[in-house]
Amino acid sequence: MTGRFLSLEGGEGAGKSTQVRALAATIEARGATVVVTREPGGSEGAEAIRSLLMHGEVSRWDARAEALLFAAARADHVEKVIRPALAAGHWVISDRYLDSTRAYQGLAGGIDDAAIMALHAFGSGGLLPDRTIVLDLSVQEGARRAALRDQGFTDRFARRGEDFHHRVAEAFRSFAEREPARVRIVDAARPPEAVTAAILVELADLLP
Ligand code: TMP
Repeated sequence: MTGRFLSLEGGEGAGKSTQVRALAATIEARGATVVVTREPGGSEGAEAIRSLLMHGEVSRWDARAEALLFAAARADHVEKVIRPALAAGHWVISDRYLDSTRAYQGLAGGIDDAAIMALHAFGSGGLLPDRTIVLDLSVQEGARRAALRDQGFTDRFARRGEDFHHRVAEAFRSFAEREPARVRIVDAARPPEAVTAAILVELADLLP
């Protein structure tokens, strides 16, 4: 069996973790081995970089330093976890991947997409998912769900203004428009089971 690489993307509170779990269970029930992972993080080194990125003041890193740290974390994650799993024929589902850098540091943070792609080519050999699902949800509803979930704790990214999060949502939609073969939008405002079903439709040609 050939493994596939999937990423789930979206703004805060879109339900990515829930959908990653549901998707992994569905694919495993069809007989594949699934490696569930996340970014930033997913490998020991990348998790160490994650704690540098997630904590502290919003101004702790500027957008360029952030882009470099995300690219470094991703390089380790790809080398140590994602490529070995794919080579073993496993499926990999990542909660966030490259498109988060292109949205948060790129279109919302002001870094050129070409620069981010160049860092990705250098750090991770340009590895792209076979398919990327964007969970689309209004910024207001996402913030409401994230606040319920996080009980007052917010990381460096969630603390950015509403404008920033609108640009992130716009960025994800623009990737789906420009790369329709890889990136698919799923409306995440529905109940979790309906969202899972819609994701499976977008993966129908890949599923075992
Ligand atoms: P999460 O674990 O709640 O998804 O939080 C990760 C945060 O990091 C989220 O706010 C998005 C942000 N992020 C970036 O800004 N760039 C990236 O490349 C990745 C993977 C995440």
